[in-house]
Amino acid sequence: MIILDMGHLLLELLLVKMQSVLDLHRIRRFMHFVCLQMRSLLQVSYTSWFLDAFNYAIATNIDVLNLSIGGPDYLDLPFIEKIWEITANNIIMVSAIGNDGPLYGTLNNPADQSDVIGVGGIDYNDHIASFSSRGMSTWEIPHGYGRVKPDVVAYGREIMGSKISTGCKSLSGTSVASPVVAGVVCLLVSVIPENNRKNILNPASMKQALVEGAAKLSGPNMYEQGAGRVDLLESYEILKNYQPRASIFPSVLDYTDCPYSWPFCRQPLYAGAMPVIFNVTILNGMGVIGYVDGPPTWHPLGEEGNLLNIRFTYSEVIWPWTGYLALHMQIKEEGAKFSGEIEGNVSVSVHSPPARGEKSSRRSTCMLQLKLKVVPTPPRSKRVLWDQFHSIKYPPGYIPRDSLDVRSDILDWHGDHLHTNFHIMFNMLRDAGYYVETLGSPFTCFDAHQYGTLMLVDLEDEYFEEEIEKLSYDVLNTGLGLAVFSEWYNVETMVKMRFFDDNTRSWWTPVTGGANIPALNDLLAPFGIAFGDKILNGDFSLNGEQSRYASGTDIVRFPGGGNVHSFPFLDTTESGATQNVLTSSTTKADSPILGLLEVGEGRIAVYGDSNCLDSSHMVTNCYWLLRKILDFTSANIRDSVLFSDSSKHDTPLVEDDNQLPSRRTDVNFSSYSAVVGKDLACRSDSRFEVWGTKGYNLDVREGDKRKPGYPVFHVGGGFNSTMDISKSRRPKYTQINKSDYLGSKYLGLIYGEELDMPVLVASHWLIPAVVAVTGVLVFLSFWRIRQKRRRRRKGSGTLRLANL
Ligand SMILES: *[C@@H]1O[C@H](CO)[C@@H](O)[C@H](O)[C@H]1NC(C)=O
Ligand SMILES: *[C@@H]1O[C@H](CO)[C@@H](O)[C@H](O)[C@H]1NC(C)=O
Ligand SMILES: *[C@@H]1O[C@H](CO)[C@@H](O)[C@H](O)[C@H]1NC(C)=O
Ligand SMILES: *[C@@H]1O[C@H](CO)[C@@H](O)[C@H](O)[C@H]1NC(C)=O
Ligand SMILES: *[C@@H]1O[C@H](CO)[C@@H](O)[C@H](O)[C@H]1NC(C)=O
Ligand SMILES: *[C@@H]1O[C@H](CO)[C@@H](O)[C@H](O)[C@H]1NC(C)=O
Repeated sequence: MIILDMGHLLLELLLVKMQSVLDLHRIRRFMHFVCLQMRSLLQVSYTSWFLDAFNYAIATNIDVLNLSIGGPDYLDLPFIEKIWEITANNIIMVSAIGNDGPLYGTLNNPADQSDVIGVGGIDYNDHIASFSSRGMSTWEIPHGYGRVKPDVVAYGREIMGSKISTGCKSLSGTSVASPVVAGVVCLLVSVIPENNRKNILNPASMKQALVEGAAKLSGPNMYEQGAGRVDLLESYEILKNYQPRASIFPSVLDYTDCPYSWPFCRQPLYAGAMPVIFNVTILNGMGVIGYVDGPPTWHPLGEEGNLLNIRFTYSEVIWPWTGYLALHMQIKEEGAKFSGEIEGNVSVSVHSPPARGEKSSRRSTCMLQLKLKVVPTPPRSKRVLWDQFHSIKYPPGYIPRDSLDVRSDILDWHGDHLHTNFHIMFNMLRDAGYYVETLGSPFTCFDAHQYGTLMLVDLEDEYFEEEIEKLSYDVLNTGLGLAVFSEWYNVETMVKMRFFDDNTRSWWTPVTGGANIPALNDLLAPFGIAFGDKILNGDFSLNGEQSRYASGTDIVRFPGGGNVHSFPFLDTTESGATQNVLTSSTTKADSPILGLLEVGEGRIAVYGDSNCLDSSHMVTNCYWLLRKILDFTSANIRDSVLFSDSSKHDTPLVEDDNQLPSRRTDVNFSSYSAVVGKDLACRSDSRFEVWGTKGYNLDVREGDKRKPGYPVFHVGGGFNSTMDISKSRRPKYTQINKSDYLGSKYLGLIYGEELDMPVLVASHWLIPAVVAVTGVLVFLSFWRIRQKRRRRRKGSGTLRLANL
């Protein structure tokens, strides 16, 4: 046994094969940075070490691998491709989903990969452990929608294990839940007759057995518990009679099953909405490579089912073992008054090449059951559109955190989505009677007549010129409301936040601030509104609510005739993000942070901070403020506090153009942006009518001038089928060139040409099983530290958490 103990910041890797146990540690780019930030003793492990360990696992025919490490960087390609190679080589990988709960959008890689079994933690009362990371996966946003993860949950709190020296100790973490499942996997393998193992055992069939056998817990939703608590006996029953087949996970979407089906069950479908996307995973137990035979089909049960317009995007090639199928659901116009349920099935057939000794392909048809709720289209004033498109997160770039007080979380990596770190706000809006839709395409891809308010919260991206023009038209002429929640932006502070990453041997610099204020200012310029580059902190009271302004910005330009609210705050700009706060100025100046304005047919509200809506780093919430803002922007209801006489500003706030914050000149933003250097186009998250076009209000013909006055493009007819969706959505793996880090021995396996896998299963399965369950659990000592910290923090009443 080789044990490299890298200390409490690092997570371990354990390869189990018979008696050989290899325990390694790794820290990936991100975690390394945390180290730096914490100025702790520098203990680094590199991606390359893991590649070496994984190569070793492949070369020695390891069967099951427990990986209790992870990080948020799902774009560390050498690592991710190596995981694909591991599973393509029929190694069943079980991995901890992460300890960043109860925050949402905190899944760790590689546990968030569909070919890996991602494990969350529960306590002995079958409650999700607070530390267990929550879904959904965030790779897919902004254009798409995340997958359900974790896959299963297992006991992970106060689990007894052996100490390295002697005796036992109790430990907590998804790092503990993961080896429990690795042990279950080993036990399950041991009950399959050895002569049949090669035929039926693989990462997909094992995941099928685990998720189909799991016991669904009654409280948590699918992004907390996945399929539920792992159930050894049920999974055994499934595996006992297993025939190679493909299946879908999750296999049911039931809008009547709340809270499990949250967030879907919280908002019914209705005609005219943006497509609701449900992104499921195809598990193919028939072979490492498989193919989807033509588009999936929708089989409605009953007439109402024809009111559902459902489109599919999917991976044509399923490799390794898994692929995806995304449902894009809309209610047809003729269903605009329908209220009720729609039921039916989606079926998709999959085939894999014949296994050795077989003549014909392996084939299987998978089913996904749908039970949807539909309501009549709500009135415009109740419909809110959330801009996801202009949100940029980590990875790929150093997108800094929104509250500079949160020193433990350096990066903005929770997705900034209604169903991740804005999930409580989403629930609140639903409770308040609003219907919230997501826009993952440019502003030219929605019809402003349908929405009361467009919400722009914590946005990092730039805007197409067409978007700026369309938005001002929408507000001035169609009466669209705008609710803007900005963030800090200060170049000097960004420069100070730079750090050297020892893993990539390069300097990391924030590519923008908490929000991209220069871009937002361009967007708001037609209305005479602009934000400044102060970083303001402090408590204030409005409407009798004690509130915290956490690294927000100020409003520096605002037209006369609006209402502006100012409060005295400290400007912490000079202090820099990681520097001593004491060096900052200690004089509080009155700073405008909230502005409300009627302009043309529309109404605009701007606020300089988003932390009060963001469940991840919230100190105090401002849901009350959001409700009052939406009353105003959507329905022109004026609250007496927000529109008090004292806040009325007849003289405009003015600021010279050259005083406004400017963009960084030393950052090539096109590497992170969906706008810079990209074409304006509506993606599959928008209405089917505009997929593949440039959108509403624009003449789609190339080279033509836009039509004057922005006549609204009439939403009629059908789907514009000129886009070949399936072709453009091939999975990335075709680009992998394994010969870079592997001997040619593995090439065939990787590309699925040779389906004859190396002998998979060791004979002494009970040994690793016992090893896994009881004992060689070299748990994460940093967990204890983390738990202690967490307890300490509880006292302060904040939601701030440390990173891995
Ligand atoms: C569904 O998930 C897969 C796998 O992450 C992703 O490639 C695809 O783009 C997603 N599709 C949609 C529409 O979200
Ligand atoms: C859908 O699938 C379920 C389970 O496979 C089956 O019971 C039901 O009859 C199917 N319904 C339709 C409309 O095909
Ligand atoms: C910025 O990066 C893009 C690729 O992301 C590249 O095409 C472009 O040339 C770069 N621009 C500069 C000025 O380096
Ligand atoms: C679909 O969009 C393309 C441009 O992307 C356009 O040329 C074509 O006429 C459209 N087809 C229909 C049926 O609207
Ligand atoms: C893969 O890499 C090898 C050697 O580096 C090269 O000869 C081969 O052409 C590459 N294959 C592809 C598909 O790029
Ligand atoms: C699983 O991972 C944990 C945490 O890295 C490690 O300490 C433990 O040894 C592994 N256990 C097994 C049985 O694989």
